[in-house]
Amino acid sequence: MRSIILDCDPGGDDAVALLMALSAPNILELKGVTTISGNASLEWIHTNARKVCELAGRRDVRVFAGCSSALLRPAVNASFCHGNDGLAGASLPMPTMPLEKQHAVDFLIQSLEEAKEPLTLAMTAPITNLAVALCKAPHIADLIKEVVWMGGAIGTGNITPAAEFNAYVDPHALAVVLSRKVPLRMIGLHITHQVTTSTPWMARLRAQGTNVARQVAGILEVEAEADKARYNLGGRAIHDACVIASLLRPELFTWAPASISVSTEDNASLGATLVSTYPCHLDEAPHAYVATQVDAHGVLELILSCMAFYRQEDQKQVVGF
Ligand code: RIB
Ligand code: CA
Repeated sequence: MRSIILDCDPGGDDAVALLMALSAPNILELKGVTTISGNASLEWIHTNARKVCELAGRRDVRVFAGCSSALLRPAVNASFCHGNDGLAGASLPMPTMPLEKQHAVDFLIQSLEEAKEPLTLAMTAPITNLAVALCKAPHIADLIKEVVWMGGAIGTGNITPAAEFNAYVDPHALAVVLSRKVPLRMIGLHITHQVTTSTPWMARLRAQGTNVARQVAGILEVEAEADKARYNLGGRAIHDACVIASLLRPELFTWAPASISVSTEDNASLGATLVSTYPCHLDEAPHAYVATQVDAHGVLELILSCMAFYRQEDQKQVVGF
């Protein structure tokens, strides 16, 4: 059993990650969901996180609102992909479960301080909440089991030629986190662009016949249009699912110790992650690792398995992978 906090900006692929995390209660204990502006405004993001928890039948999940802006950069969103409300393609009712009153940053700090076992921070968004938490309580750096972050890229970005979206929205936050040398696993675009939907895969998802499957298929179909037009992908890259997949089935990913830095220069390089796995560039005891390979078919099969958890007859069972 691994205890995690999911820090996210749903966003369709964040929604898949959240549904995956909730589909494996015998493997992952979700301590809470912290939210951050990114794919859409913070108000939509924490609303969407609660919509997805209610879709999963989990009104008990604690959802926290985090920072409503990046440390320095002006607001950027991904409405071109996720729509103005952040969940294009879904038709979910407004949530009735409450938003927690505590700020996400304070929840992160308190949870790390009180955890019996070190927590894993599964992060699928701009990394502002963690950066602010580290500035407010530097000692938490030693309390984190590891951060698994979808972000950055080895090579071409997506929001700009140089930068991946989560790094680009708040490059200064990423620089803060990297400077504190917390244990970090980075899953970049070079990996997540391989985990892409296909027509047969979408048909298998829809064939599950649940509301979860219908909603996820609706989201991924809409988001796929942007990925096909902008990046010549064959379908929708389910970026954030890779974070939870790496926790559920670590064997699907290959890692290398890495030196990671980020450009904070206000020019064409802004948000670019500069990654080297060369031994000469590594610290004595590397704290950062980058995913170098993924079994994309295995991840896509895992996503279908996780979504199948939401068939009524399965929800009572404990699912293994
Ligand atoms: O670049 C992909 C990342 O940006 C994903 O986390 C997606 O949800 C968007 O936030
Ligand atoms: Ca995201």
